Amino acid sequence: MENYLNDIDFGKFRDLIYDASGIHFSESNRVILESRLKEKLRKSELSSPGEYYSILTRDKEELKQLLDSVTTNLTRFFRNTAHFETLENYVFPELVKLKRETGSNKIKIWSAGCSTGEEPYSIAMMAKEVLPPGMSVEVTASDLSLKSLMTAKAGFYPNNRVNGIPDKYLTKYFNQSDDGYMVKDEIKNLIKFDYHNLKFDSGNRNLDIVLCRNVIIYFDDAAQEAVIQKFWDSMNRKSFLFIGHSESLFGMKTQFEFFKSDWACIYLKTS
Ligand SMILES: C[S@@+](CC[C@H](N)C(=O)[O-])C[C@H]1O[C@@H](n2cnc3c(N)ncnc32)[C@H](O)[C@@H]1O
Repeated sequence: MENYLNDIDFGKFRDLIYDASGIHFSESNRVILESRLKEKLRKSELSSPGEYYSILTRDKEELKQLLDSVTTNLTRFFRNTAHFETLENYVFPELVKLKRETGSNKIKIWSAGCSTGEEPYSIAMMAKEVLPPGMSVEVTASDLSLKSLMTAKAGFYPNNRVNGIPDKYLTKYFNQSDDGYMVKDEIKNLIKFDYHNLKFDSGNRNLDIVLCRNVIIYFDDAAQEAVIQKFWDSMNRKSFLFIGHSESLFGMKTQFEFFKSDWACIYLKTS
């Protein structure tokens, strides 16, 4: 089948997207980029990919929309149960001990690449449920996709999107309506939603937990290493990093230590 873009145009779009976000379209996923561009040109009055490209190089808002359209936002509540078991049975108890030793009472968490919000809401519900009285939690949830972030902020999920939420959480932390479930304010208020591109420093510091799951899989090695270093800089002296179960820091220059808990593999910052 003939390509929608010629090789030169494909290279130009690929480089533009990579430089702006770290998202890397290789030859093997070229068709995904091509189909998104085709859709964009069909909806607009633009006559050619070249015309669209020249707009993108001048118009930052247009570039943001392109980045939004090339992201993959698939997610679900309590995705990867083993991670949530690790949080509940290992990470939260370790942090509570540590916080008590240092006289602090706040756990700071970042869901980086939070998509439509299922991940940060799952974390916030679990924290509310398992942390001892007096220990508070603050979750920052960020994404490059404004569309996804708006859904996250709204906190409304149709009936077919709430699979995976334990019944006791669904009853306790959501208001049910005919067509779906709305997250209650007591959970929403624990989360700060932020439009952020992982290409740049977030300004977050002293984080206790960073979850960046199923995000760096779309980056190439150099972009992965850069974002992992940014996480390191934003985290507390002793803290915990979760990446997706099909992602790895193996072979990367990093100070994070691989750690196998009884439930899942995560990374530790210990210095
Ligand atoms: C597949 S979703 C993962 C959602 C969730 N973390 C999970 O594991 O279910 C990947 C998310 O990463 C976001 N993303 C990709 N590149 C990004 C970047 N450079 N900065 C911030 N978010 C990015 C996408 O917009 C998308 O919402």
